[in-house]
Amino acid sequence: MSASQTGVTGQPATITLGNKTAELPVLTGVLGPDVVDIRRITADLGVFTFDPGYGETASCESKITFIDGDEGVLLHRGYPIEQLATEATFPELVYLLLNGELPNKAEYAAFVSTLTNHTLLHEQIRNFFNGYRRDAHPMAILCGTVGALAAFYPDANDISKPENRELAAMRLIAKIPTIAAWAYKYTIGEAFVYPRNDLSYAENFLSMMFARPSEPYTINPVLARAMDRILILHADHEQNASTSTVRMAGSTGANPFACIAAGVAALWGPAHGGANEAVLKMLAQIGSKENIPDFIEKVKDKNSGVKLMGFGHRVYKNFDPRAKIMQATCHEVLTELGITDDPLLELAVELENIALHDEYFVKRKLYPNVDFYSGIILKAMGIPTSMFTVLFAVARTTGWVSQWKEMIEEPGQRISRPRQLYLGAGRRDYVPVEKRG
Ligand code: ACO
Repeated sequence: MSASQTGVTGQPATITLGNKTAELPVLTGVLGPDVVDIRRITADLGVFTFDPGYGETASCESKITFIDGDEGVLLHRGYPIEQLATEATFPELVYLLLNGELPNKAEYAAFVSTLTNHTLLHEQIRNFFNGYRRDAHPMAILCGTVGALAAFYPDANDISKPENRELAAMRLIAKIPTIAAWAYKYTIGEAFVYPRNDLSYAENFLSMMFARPSEPYTINPVLARAMDRILILHADHEQNASTSTVRMAGSTGANPFACIAAGVAALWGPAHGGANEAVLKMLAQIGSKENIPDFIEKVKDKNSGVKLMGFGHRVYKNFDPRAKIMQATCHEVLTELGITDDPLLELAVELENIALHDEYFVKRKLYPNVDFYSGIILKAMGIPTSMFTVLFAVARTTGWVSQWKEMIEEPGQRISRPRQLYLGAGRRDYVPVEKRG
């Protein structure tokens, strides 16, 4: 029996179909609802299960992140996100997600040193940037360049060796901010800024984004802390679309750099990581407060195809705990930057107010998600809209890599291969083209 048998409860679930009965073990996790183990259902009853979008399916065992969507709880390795976001640093969280425990002082220093020493890109990677159009979306550049890293680190093709997995993990987490910042610099035609080993992860990212070779760049500590917090809040979120994509790609034994590129692709969509960019576009489209009621009517009209971006979540049906912290950070950043009368921010506050009290949103439990506020903060920090999802990818690489490692290291790990409910044509015979009517 597999490792998951450790969680079996006493009472199995019994399913009867015609004259066949299957007794399915019920597994109990540390937290969260019990899980019916359906792995024998096809052998015993000859049926598949149907769960498009996998909303009710546990696709793996994991010890990394726990979410209770009804209660608005998010724990990483057991620690509440509220504590991590206010007391830990991003590299500390990276260590925790990768290794399961918080580091002691010596472990932390060694970890930060390794992470810092992998931030440079191979000089040949510079050449890749020249191949992209100047107006390319930075997510396209990120996706392509992260995938290209696979060509530079052939040792990652052999992931059976733990040291190769470790090295690939550190390289990915260390290099992705450099690729992200360079994608931005390339699209605006500025010189690439090299990483600096004397800066923290968040400071270094700000420096690579905003410094110029011609003048000194001073890092604002409030903005650096906000950036660190944004990274923490986006670091992992259990089996979301992009993480599941990384796990699925990784389940074939593929090179981890290629798997993370798959995660970047999945994150890009507006229903997932693209939402923070979509929030800003939506605010710009609404334009002014007077247009809000019309916009809300459109959102409620199912035929309009318009959604209130930055609202709603597949899992959180109460509130998104990350959104609360992000809201507070948003105010800190705006105060620090002296932004008191930003029209887009005023619009956002008004929209938030209306939506929190409007019956349509209340009934459907649609609350602002983390992206509603992160978009506003990033805009205030001078980060262009097209970089919002890129920044999300920088943070989420930690989660992807941790989840990929956990999956690869699981005893008896198998390739992911879902089934389907086939609704196409039945068997039929080929007719040559000249005989078709
Ligand atoms: N605006 C208007 N109506 C909405 C919204 C929204 N943002 N989100 C959900 N609804 C409505 C649906 O139309 C549906 O209404 P119905 O019951 O009358 O048919 C009901 O609320 C339930 O919504 P579902 O679509 O079932 O919710 P699901 O869990 O599938 O979708 C999702 C979640 C994709 C996040 C959705 O809420 C959405 O598109 N939100 C806007 C995009 C966004 O902000 N995405 C970021 C997610 S967080 C992240 O990736 C970090």
